[in-house]
Amino acid sequence: MLTQQQIQDYHANGYLVLPGFKSADELAVLKNRAIEIANGHDINIHKTIFSTGEQRQENIDPEHIDPEHIDAEQGYFLNSANGICCFLEEKAFDKAGALVQSLPQSINKIGHALHDLDPVFDTFSRGDKLAQLAKDLGLNDAQIWQSMYIFKQPRIGGKVDWHQDASFFQTDPITVTTFWFAIDDATLENGCLWVQDGGHNSPLREVFTRDGDVTTMTSIDDTPWPEISEARAVEVKAGTLVCFQGRLPHYSAENLSDKARHAYTLHVTDSTSKYAPENWIQRSADFPAHGFS
Ligand code: FE2
Repeated sequence: MLTQQQIQDYHANGYLVLPGFKSADELAVLKNRAIEIANGHDINIHKTIFSTGEQRQENIDPEHIDPEHIDAEQGYFLNSANGICCFLEEKAFDKAGALVQSLPQSINKIGHALHDLDPVFDTFSRGDKLAQLAKDLGLNDAQIWQSMYIFKQPRIGGKVDWHQDASFFQTDPITVTTFWFAIDDATLENGCLWVQDGGHNSPLREVFTRDGDVTTMTSIDDTPWPEISEARAVEVKAGTLVCFQGRLPHYSAENLSDKARHAYTLHVTDSTSKYAPENWIQRSADFPAHGFS
């Protein structure tokens, strides 16, 4: 489905923008289902917050760690690898512990196996068009490991620091590829994606690994993250698919605007590359990672 020029651009820049990949109807169906799941989340049971700071354990002030709370949150996070779990925005609660906005406007994201466990997400995540696209991008035998519905809520949508997705899906050689669907228009105001043109050729800086119930982010290369002057804002219309390579540095800013910036992502590797046993998401023989068809 891609032209030779598009394939060349993807390899030169590390990413490719495909406007109009999904129809308005497809977006609406997915969004409604995501909001339905968010509405069903019980915050009295799970108040796990997602922030990129939490994944960098050195950022946690030891004085503020309640071991029981951290254990429960960590357990919820680990279970989400093969489940459908809601994570709250860091700014979801006021000082008294009450939600600042409605429940569906407080969820940061839903993860991480929507594509396999929810029929609506399954339909959106698969099909001939995506299967052909994956082949054109160089994935001979695609395996979808992770899905996330990201809300980037109005006014409180948290930022996501610079990172490389290959940190979370190590394979030898590196094949992880991200499929990032804009469910809403993504703009500078509501926290669009930022990428570093050609940054996919830079070294992998960090690895996120799991050993038992412990997850760790470890620095493996001290190459600095790009300056803002080296970053490109990827402002796109709803329905656009952005594909990018595993070592492409990317981030997104806070959403302080009144408009939500919903997005849906899939993280995919090629089964011909060796998937590391230290990756936090693992599948078993009775729940294998499938491709796009
Ligand atoms: Fe990412």
